[in-house]
This record gives sequence, structure tokens and C-alpha cells, in this order.
Amino acid sequence: MKIVMLGAPGAGKGTQAKQIAGKYGLPHISTGDIFRANIKNGTELGKEAKKYMDQGLLVPDELTVRLLLDRVSREDCKNGYVLDGFPRTIPQANVLDEALEKLGDQIDYAIDVDVPDENIVRRMSGRRACLSCGATYHVAYAPPKKEGICDTCGSELVLRDDDKPETVQNRLHVYHEQTQPLIDFYARKGVLRTVDGTQAVEDVFEAICKILG
Ligand code: AP5
Ligand code: MG
Repeated sequence: MKIVMLGAPGAGKGTQAKQIAGKYGLPHISTGDIFRANIKNGTELGKEAKKYMDQGLLVPDELTVRLLLDRVSREDCKNGYVLDGFPRTIPQANVLDEALEKLGDQIDYAIDVDVPDENIVRRMSGRRACLSCGATYHVAYAPPKKEGICDTCGSELVLRDDDKPETVQNRLHVYHEQTQPLIDFYARKGVLRTVDGTQAVEDVFEAICKILG
């Protein structure tokens, strides 16, 4: 099963993608997590990506597409995957489509986690992220068992550099300009499913499981 998660920054794509990946035994592939891991490790890719991410802008398609195609060609992806944060532009979606078409394959579900802009800023300021394993928490809605420490791997949790309110506004703007058109793109292919992302985390997950079966 090949799944694409759609939704604004902070809609809960990562939160849901992790649970879907766990339940259905699929790898969770987040381009944002891959970039953040590269930034943390000081790689060339990380240095390049950071220039854009800190401003709330998208990393150029050329760089992102290469990274993603390499990732989905690995052995663990042969039965499918959950893509979180990719594609984010129409050109990225076209490249993915063409790559899948060559294999006689296609995306099975594009799940849009729908959350209005008003809710987003509040969520972002309370988010805490683990830069080691990619787990995400919220100080009020999804707190870790021990404050500031990741339940999964024990690393320290941080406020992401791009979660400052002014950067969040930029990310929302970029989302509406460049990423939202993907909702129509996948609707035309007949694979779009929309869930109400303002519900509690468990309820959003239940709605998604009903779709995926
Ligand atoms: P990325 O890491 O993908 O960030 P994003 O899309 O902005 O999304 P977020 O990770 O911020 O939010 P999310 O939807 O995963 O929400 P989460 O589950 O954490 O990308 C970062 C940057 O990398 C981009 O800006 C860009 O520069 C670059 N990049 C990445 N991919 C790229 C690409 N393909 N092309 C070009 N550039 C790319 O939840 C948010 C918070 O809310 C958490 O605290 C969570 O606990 C809480 N929460 C979740 N669900 C609920 C709920 N139902 N109720 C209450 N709280 C909830
Ligand atoms: Mg995320």
C-alpha cells in the first residue's frame, strides 16, 4: 500500500503517519525528518536544506526529488510506504507519478488531514520534536511521559527552529501557494480521502483506519 499524507504544516501528518506505519507495517518516510537528521549531522545536504527551512520556504525540488526517489527504491519499500511531507509541489507529484508508472504502479491513497489555519499556530508553539527518531509531542495534547525526553528513544526534545510564529506564517503561506493544489491533483486521480484533523489524535487515526481497511 502506497500512501501520501497531505495537510498544512502542523495538521498532524507526522503524528498519523507514524501510527499508520506501525499498524500496517510500512516505512514512514518524512522528507522533513530526513532533512532535520542531515542538519543535525552537519552534512552538505543538511547545510543546503537549512537555508530554506529556517525561512519556512521549500527546499528546491531538484534536491528533494533525488533524495525521495533514492529512499523509495530501497528494499524496505517494496510493499509500500507512507510518505509524509512529499510531494509538496505539483512537479514533485509528477516525478513520483512517472517513477511509479514505470513500475506499473501508483499511489493508492492520498489522505488529506484537514485543519484550518487558526488551529495551526497554537499547535506549533506547543510542539516538541525528537531530532533523533522523529517522534513528535505536544506539551498539552500529546505530552511525553517524562517532560522534555522522547518516550521512544530517550533523546532530548526540542522546539523546532521553524516553529517560531513568524516562520509558521510563512510556511502556511507556502502551503496554500504550492502544496494545496495537490488536493485537486489527487482528487482527479480518484485517490483523495479527507479526514477532519481537528479531532483528537485517536479519532483522526480511527477515521484513517476506516479508509485504509
Ligand atoms: P515538515 O517536517 O514536513 O514540516 P510540515 O509540513 O511543516 O509539517 P509539520 O511536520 O510541521 O507538521 P505535521 O503535519 O507533521 O504535524 P505533527 O504531526 O508534527 O517540513 C519542514 C520543512 O522541510 C519544510 O518547511 C521545507 O522547508 C522542508 N521540506 C520537507 N519536505 C519537503 C519537500 N517535499 N519539498 C520541499 N521542501 C520540503 O503535529 C503538529 C503538532 O500538533 C504536534 O505537536 C502534535 O503533537 C500536535 N497534534 C497532532 N495531531 C493533533 C490533534 N489531532 N489534536 C491536537 N494536537 C495534535
Ligand atoms: Mg511532520
